[in-house]
Amino acid sequence: MRVVVSVGGSVLVPELEAERVEAYAETLLDLVESGHELGVVVGGGPVAREYIGTARALGADEISLDRLGIEVTRLNARLLAGALGDAAVSRPVEAVESARELFRRGDIPVLGGTTPGHTTDAVATGVAEHAGADLLVYATSVDGVFDADPGVDDDAAKLDRLSPTELVEVVGEVELDAGSNAPVDLLAAKLLQRSDLRAVVVDGSDPERVAAAVDGEHDGTDIVPEG
Ligand code: UTP
Repeated sequence: MRVVVSVGGSVLVPELEAERVEAYAETLLDLVESGHELGVVVGGGPVAREYIGTARALGADEISLDRLGIEVTRLNARLLAGALGDAAVSRPVEAVESARELFRRGDIPVLGGTTPGHTTDAVATGVAEHAGADLLVYATSVDGVFDADPGVDDDAAKLDRLSPTELVEVVGEVELDAGSNAPVDLLAAKLLQRSDLRAVVVDGSDPERVAAAVDGEHDGTDIVPEG
C-alpha cells in the first residue's frame, strides 16, 4: 500500500529525545520492509507553539507566525529524515509535487510545512491526494475524532467512523470553541471531502499504533469516503 503518515510534532518530539525519534523511524522502516511505500509529514509540536507564542507577543503578523511554524516543522522533519537514514531524503522536501516524484523513485519523502495558512495535516492530505495514496494516517496526540472537544466537554464521545463531510462538520464546530484543538485541521478535512482518500486518526504517541493502523487494527477513527 502507498501510505502517508502525518506525524504531529507533539507525538514525535513532545520533548527532544533521540529514543523517541529513533523508535518512530524504526517503525516506519519496518513498514517499508513489509512492502509499503511511505511518505511522512512532520509537525512542529510544542517548540513551534513556543516560537509562535513568543513572536506573537512581540507583535508579529499571522503570516510571519506561520513562517516560524513552518521552519520548526522542517527542523523536526530533518530530525526524522536523519533517523530514517538512506531510505529517506536527507533534506525535507518543500513541495507536495516533489513528494510525488520521490514516491516514484522509491524514496521516502519527508516533509514539514509548505505554505502559510494551514497545518501539516493539510500538507499530508495534499501529498496523499497528489500521490494517489491508499491510506492516510493522522498520528495525533488524541486517540481519534470526538463529537465535541474532549478537553472542554466531559461528555465528548469518540467516533469510530465518519465521512469526510461529517468530519468537516465536527472539526468546524470544535474550532469555534475558544482554546480548543481540532484533531485534524479544517483544510485537511475539506481536502478529504473532495478526494477518494481513506484516512485514519490515531493516537500516535506510540509509533506501534501507527503500524497497527496501517494493518487495519486501531481504536481511533476511520474516515471513509462517501459511496
Ligand atoms: P503543525 O502542523 O505542527 O500544527 O504546524 P499542529 O498540527 O497544530 O501541531 P502538532 O505538530 O500536531 O503538535 C504548526 C504551525 O506552523 C504553521 C501554522 O502556523 C501551524 O499552526 N504552518 C505549518 C503553516 O503555516 N503551514 C504549513 O504548511 C505547516
